[in-house]
Order: sequence, then structure tokens, then C-alpha cells
Amino acid sequence: MAKIVLKDVYKKFGNFEVLRGVNLEVNQNEVFAIIGLSGCGKSVLLKHLLGLVSADSGAVFVDGEDISSFEGKDINRVRRKFGMVFQGAALFDSLNVYENVSFGLRRVQTDMSEASIKQKVMDVLNMVGLSGSENKSPSELSGGMRKRVGLARAIAMDPEILLYDEPTTGLDPVLSRVIDELIVKVNSTLKITTIVVTHDMTSVLNVADRVVMLHDGVIIEGGTPSDLQNTENKYLKEFFTSSVFTKNYKE
Ligand SMILES: Nc1ncnc2c1ncn2[C@@H]1O[C@H](COP(=O)(O)OP(=O)(O)OP(=O)(O)O)[C@@H](O)[C@H]1O
Ligand SMILES: [Mg+2]
Repeated sequence: MAKIVLKDVYKKFGNFEVLRGVNLEVNQNEVFAIIGLSGCGKSVLLKHLLGLVSADSGAVFVDGEDISSFEGKDINRVRRKFGMVFQGAALFDSLNVYENVSFGLRRVQTDMSEASIKQKVMDVLNMVGLSGSENKSPSELSGGMRKRVGLARAIAMDPEILLYDEPTTGLDPVLSRVIDELIVKVNSTLKITTIVVTHDMTSVLNVADRVVMLHDGVIIEGGTPSDLQNTENKYLKEFFTSSVFTKNYKE
């Protein structure tokens, strides 16, 4: 059974139809990338999975349950399956790294001992390569470090599904590749189903098992990253060549 299925999802804001019949399936443990132009509805699509935005019609299945009309306790139970690495990083600037990473644990696992919290925070910071940064404040961190703290905070909650919204946007190419490596490492070590929304094609090639494009409110099937390199679809081709081959300016 697919971990996540969207069936014919429609969503309008005012007169603007952002999603016009989105269909997709994400398998357990895969890294699934969604690409698309700015403003095409990628973040809106992710919000449907968390029940932060509800579809006008269609269904959103998580582990076979249609969550599209869930509220209260039901949606909270589903949300706990997800970890989210936000477009910004969304750290609390007044809290240090340790406090940021342990924040969710304290709220959700209220019976967790201080020693277990500490162990967990140390483990996840180690996993993202930030051991020793516990006492730093977010303002002292580089963009790449902030993203890694955001990732550590998400995985501290033991999610089954991790959503990354533009994890490499705003980072230089070197840091972007560090994040790519982490996405792959976290996915395979923790056996997490992973969805990455991005317009960084290098990142797609590095991390994705499968990739699709959101365009004009619908999903254009892409396949594996290598399928994408040979695609005949006009929009996929355009997106792919403009992002990857812009550096071939001599040609
Ligand atoms: N709550 C909302 N109310 C009204 N319009 C919204 C709302 N959320 C998103 N939109 C609109 O939906 C469209 C898609 O937005 P979304 O944030 O999903 O784009 P995106 O693909 O994530 O873009 P980017 O790559 O720039 O992050 C935009 O036109 C946006 O203005
Ligand atoms: Mg977005």
C-alpha cells in the first residue's frame, strides 16, 4: 500500500484554482521529489497532507485513511506521523539549539525524562553533524546550520514521513550538497518516507527515487531522475534544462 495517495485533489483560493485534480502516490521509504515553478502550489500541496489546508474536493490518504475531512484529535494523530522541515527553518530565535530541538518533544512526550530528552537531542544533533552546537542561538548560525537544526528538530519526533519544503533554497552549492547528503542519510538510516519540494534540479538528481512536476494545477509524471533527463514532456524538459544547464553558458 502506498504511504500517501492524493486522488483528484482540487483547491481554489478565491477565483484562483491552485490544484486542479492532483493525483499522486508516494511509496513507503522512498524519496519523492515534487518540482514546479514558484507559486505553482507546492507548499499548498504539502499543507494538504498535514490538514493545514483542506481540499475543496478529492481525497488525501495517509496509510490508507482519507484524512481530508479530519479535525481535532484525528488530524493531530495524523500530524504526529509527519516531520516538517520548513522553507525558512522556522526556529525560535529566543531559544538556543538544544531548546529548539527539544521543544516538540517536551510538548508531545510530556512523560519523557530529562535524561532521555538529552540523549535524543544529542543523537539527532549528531546525526545532522551539529554536535557541540547545543548552546548556540539561531542568530549565530549560518543558513545551512539553521536548516540542519530544523531537520534535527523534525527527526527528534520520530516521524514516519518527512516533508522538506525547499531545503536547499538560499544555500550555496556546497551547503546544498551537504543537505542533499543528509536527506539521503536520514531517509535510509531512519527508514522514513520522504517528500522533497524543490526547484533545485541538482538536488533532485542527488536525492530522489522518483520525481514529478506540479504544473498548472496538475501532476506531470516524471519517473526516476534519469527518466527525467530523457523526458519528452515540454514543461519537464524546460524546467530541467533551465535549472541544470544554465551553467553551460558557452553553448
Ligand atoms: N492561504 C492562502 N490564501 C490565499 N492564497 C493562497 C494561500 N496559500 C497559498 N496561496 C496562493 O496559492 C498559490 C500557490 O502558493 P504556494 O505557496 O503553494 O506556491 P509554491 O509552489 O510553494 O511557491 P514557492 O516555490 O515560491 O514556494 C500562490 O499563488 C499563493 O498566493
Ligand atoms: Mg513554497
